[in-house]
Amino acid sequence: MRHFALMDDTTPFAAAAARVAAGADHRVEAASLVADMTVAEKLGCLDGDTPFWPGLVDMVSGGYYRHSWPAAAVDRLGIPGIEFADGPRGCVLAPATAFPVSMARGASFDPDLEARVGDAIGAELRARGATYTGAVCMNLLRHPAWGRAQETYGEDPHHVGVMAEALTVGLQRHVMACMKHFALNSMENARFTVDVTIDERALHEVYLPHFRRVAAAGVASVMSAYNSVNGEWCGENAQLLRDVLRREWEWDGFVTSDFIFGLRNPVQSVAAGLNIEMPFRQQRALALAEAVESGTLDMAVVDELVVETVATLLRFAHVFRNTPDASVVACPDHRDLAREVASASMVLVRNDGLLPLRPQALRKVAVLGRLAAVANLGDHGSSNVTPPQAVTLLEGLRSGLTGVEVVHHDEDAAIAGDADVAVVVVGYTEADEGEFLDTSAQVNLLHLFPPMEHPEVGLPPDMDPDEAFAVLTGGGSGEEGGGSDDAPQASFTVPGGDRASLRLHAEHEALIRAAAEACDDVLVVVMGGSAVVMPWLEDVSATLLVWYPGMEGGHALADVVLGRCEPGGRLPFAVPYDEAQLVPFDRDATEVTYGLLHGQWKLDADGEAAHLPFGFGLGYTTFAVEPGPTLVGDTVCATVTNTGDRYGDAVVQVYGSVPDSVHQRPPRRLVGFARVSVAPGASAEVDVPVDLRLLDVRIDGTWVREDRPVVLTVGLDAAHADTVVTDAR
Ligand code: BGC
Repeated sequence: MRHFALMDDTTPFAAAAARVAAGADHRVEAASLVADMTVAEKLGCLDGDTPFWPGLVDMVSGGYYRHSWPAAAVDRLGIPGIEFADGPRGCVLAPATAFPVSMARGASFDPDLEARVGDAIGAELRARGATYTGAVCMNLLRHPAWGRAQETYGEDPHHVGVMAEALTVGLQRHVMACMKHFALNSMENARFTVDVTIDERALHEVYLPHFRRVAAAGVASVMSAYNSVNGEWCGENAQLLRDVLRREWEWDGFVTSDFIFGLRNPVQSVAAGLNIEMPFRQQRALALAEAVESGTLDMAVVDELVVETVATLLRFAHVFRNTPDASVVACPDHRDLAREVASASMVLVRNDGLLPLRPQALRKVAVLGRLAAVANLGDHGSSNVTPPQAVTLLEGLRSGLTGVEVVHHDEDAAIAGDADVAVVVVGYTEADEGEFLDTSAQVNLLHLFPPMEHPEVGLPPDMDPDEAFAVLTGGGSGEEGGGSDDAPQASFTVPGGDRASLRLHAEHEALIRAAAEACDDVLVVVMGGSAVVMPWLEDVSATLLVWYPGMEGGHALADVVLGRCEPGGRLPFAVPYDEAQLVPFDRDATEVTYGLLHGQWKLDADGEAAHLPFGFGLGYTTFAVEPGPTLVGDTVCATVTNTGDRYGDAVVQVYGSVPDSVHQRPPRRLVGFARVSVAPGASAEVDVPVDLRLLDVRIDGTWVREDRPVVLTVGLDAAHADTVVTDAR
């Protein structure tokens, strides 16, 4: 790992950074650094700095979770390059604070809180030597069966964009962030092979607005996706990487490939504008020198890409100057934040009055379900975080329910027979959903690997090829992410993948039914990364979605069920009655077409009710939106009244529609939201910033604003946003 101190300006890079800090143009300074580079140095900036085979063996033997991955460093000029480490639910270099997964944080609808999470993750990453992170995963949840749903924020482009921007701003105080996966990576099992067909409108109106927002907010980098879009692999897709990112959005940064399988044609990937092949010296290392020599690759294009990377490093020179102390890693403040975020993200979707529990009225609580007693923190792929310890839901409940007998059994509902309350913990684990790598899916991609005996990037002489192969195929992660400070192993056989169904496992539904027969008061606690279809919902007293709640999840659950905190979350997607109400999802598809409607929008367009609409979630009080909100400039001013008897938060949502539109559209879409805390009986005015560009239509390369009335409505979820806004502009 390189940690260049920029404070002493003895290197050309440090001197250039000092000039940029004093007002010089970072691109001009970068161009002059690049002009001093040799061809070999320039080509060296176009891929990872680690030779393929030793790097792969190291990565799979646990190196992925132990150290960052360097690229684009030029020691002679003091150019620090990048040091990559993931990730979305915390720093993957073990140990670190394990936060609730991104989908949980999406449910908080709280960008200020998300910026604090970004700040904490960024500080831990930087303290561990990383300067660059893949933490900002922000693909749209087109269907809740997507295995990596937990790594993104939800189904709505505006909401995803606001949350991802907040994370980016927090992270970039310490490291450079990359937004990923660009673009249309919303399924997992077939991610290396699927071609997504999309027309201009769906691309720009649905699948890109959130990326555009984070690009405009100054994100340093973009990671291209594995899949192809309209027949072109994303890592070599000039339409996405040049026309959209650079020309149309005028974004200033560098693009990295997704890891190992991110490009198929090294020369084309350069021409298309992909700056760095990650994480190894792999395909480009074998092809580019010859391509330059033969004239099939223009050095002017190489220069342009290297300038973009170096210019970004100069723009982010503060990252190299400042390294937080190692004591920030999993420090008490970050653990407190993980607890705060976990309760702020839990979504109460049913409550007949059971919650909050009144411990003084309780004698015995029966906790049912295996997941109550394990640290269930999320998938075991590239975003896996290993905290020093993790509080299970059972431990949290036990520590909160002092003086109450708390019994637990994995599956025997009979223990709830004489209990006052049964808490049934059900849901998913990394075996059901998550990033997916399986050797069979990759066999057809082995031609992307350089030969094992290659003199520069091949196996080290002391390593036997059979031994290397055994490491690659056998180094399964299998181990639990929580409770240990040993880094888990990465592997080419990570479980997970896209979900087979949106229903719970049959034994979990049976456990809920058995608990409801044994005990009158049943609280169901659902773990998982996205929507669960809940035909049993109305048969139980209360249901709380807790996601993968991070290392403090157990404490946060106790905070919420005992009423020390409100359940702060709102659904970042619609939950249907039946999966058939959603767009079809074929996890083995080789081709798929993405259209204008999915999730809540499709339900609305079909005139069907969601079981639980987008934006819905109960607190411990109730709210009313007062009539007469007004639009002033780009802000909707609304008044909400707390009609209950407890302090609480409302998530005020503004939806926009163009009822007379001549185009197919979602009947209404989210254009703004804001959280507000209100005392019981009081009213509060809330200013909700709205983005009306989201109602524009994209036709033939331009944005068209229809000359037809726009209707804005306000509400507390997508199905009840009926309070009409008056245009006061
Ligand atoms: C994932 C990326 C991740 C990268 C590095 C890939 O398999 O798709 O999201 O950042 O690995 O770990």
